Amino acid sequence: MSGAGSIRYKGGLVNLDKGMISRDIFTSQQVYEDELERIFPRSWLFVGHESQVPEPGDYILARMAEESVIFNRDRHGKLHVFLNNCRHRGMRVCRYDKGNSTKFACPFHAWVFNDEGALVGVPKMDSAYHNELDKSQWGLIEARVYSYRGYVFACWDEAVPDFETSIGDLRFYFDDYCELPDGTYGDWEAFGGIFKWRVPCNWKWGAENFSGDYYHNPSHASVDAVVLSPAGVKGRHTYDTITRKREVELLNICVRPEGHTARGQLFAENYEYLPTYQEMAVVEDYFRDCCNKRQSLRGEKARFFGHGGTIFPNVSFSNGVQSMGSWHPNGPNETQVWRIFLVPKEAPDEVKDVLRHYVIRYQGPSGLTEQDDMENWGSAHEGSRGTIARRYDYPYTMGMGHESKGWSEEWLGGEVYVTENVSEQNQRAYYERWADMMEHPPTAPQLRDTAAAAE
Ligand code: FES
Ligand SMILES: [Fe+2]
Repeated sequence: MSGAGSIRYKGGLVNLDKGMISRDIFTSQQVYEDELERIFPRSWLFVGHESQVPEPGDYILARMAEESVIFNRDRHGKLHVFLNNCRHRGMRVCRYDKGNSTKFACPFHAWVFNDEGALVGVPKMDSAYHNELDKSQWGLIEARVYSYRGYVFACWDEAVPDFETSIGDLRFYFDDYCELPDGTYGDWEAFGGIFKWRVPCNWKWGAENFSGDYYHNPSHASVDAVVLSPAGVKGRHTYDTITRKREVELLNICVRPEGHTARGQLFAENYEYLPTYQEMAVVEDYFRDCCNKRQSLRGEKARFFGHGGTIFPNVSFSNGVQSMGSWHPNGPNETQVWRIFLVPKEAPDEVKDVLRHYVIRYQGPSGLTEQDDMENWGSAHEGSRGTIARRYDYPYTMGMGHESKGWSEEWLGGEVYVTENVSEQNQRAYYERWADMMEHPPTAPQLRDTAAAAE
């Protein structure tokens, strides 16, 4: 048992009146166990992109918090997310990372489930069970599933609002992320497999960092000194290619009370595309055409370029490099990062190749920027565990009391702040939501009716 109720979260470990947060939120076993009960089962979690299961029968293994799930497209084309867990004794019914199958046969005692989760085969049903086992009651445990523009999320709890309600004012920024470079909602496709790696830190370090930590840029000084941008100019980002030398403003956006966050920038009006890929005509034409088309489609709103953000609690998206993934909890002291990288499906091969090389240089275990981040988070986590160190809270006070700096572009959703001087307002919004959920445990587990779900 997690000792429910014995820890005070709101006003305790997370005291946002003072802007102070206890190091225990990263390291305590009890906090972690409370998170598994109170945060993850009651949140929409990212499981994959539709392009990872394009054909009927396709499946991949995904993960929700600590547990393995099957994300599949059944023979009728419908998407499902099942707990990868046999109802007989809990064996994984699927042991391959991906494949195509209309059946999942448990290796232990050979119960068989179909691609809609129904239990369809039980050995010795006559001689051992005397035909008394009601198969309709023992289907795979199925989550709610929602595909938003091809990005698929799942949630265990029936009482949680639907996905679109749950993202609230993040919608503008997530829509911006979902758009192709030309501003349309065409197809992205996941390129290659899933990046999966482990970092010796609590899962919230990555979620918090992606939520709005512009302050840590000095730790990427070496990355900024080399040419990482796909345009072959100094800098890290795709959008460096069209914003260099331009007047831009950095924005931090938080969405309360949901706790989602985004980052981005606003170009000066009437910006123009700058030639950037001059030695690669196909790539140059592609990005110039996209930029122009996006401007004509979106009008004034084309001034906004997203950088990324965090969908509470553990899903982070990055624009430009177009990646999306989860900070999966793996005990309080370890994160499993799972991330996919996507390319515009109809883009020329040369463009996909430029983007592929870019993501390898930039993100994931091979990416220079991410390597800096992992070093930071691992060390900060270790530094949060010391007997003496953990007696001292962390300040999340940056910019407190200066948050009234509203933004005049009303078409931008959420609470928007200009961040020339950086701020921790996004982190505060994130932990405000976290503390709120941790302070209010569910009265009873909201189990889904698996028989109904399998119908
Ligand atoms: S554990 Fe799956 S059939 Fe027994
Ligand atoms: Fe970073």
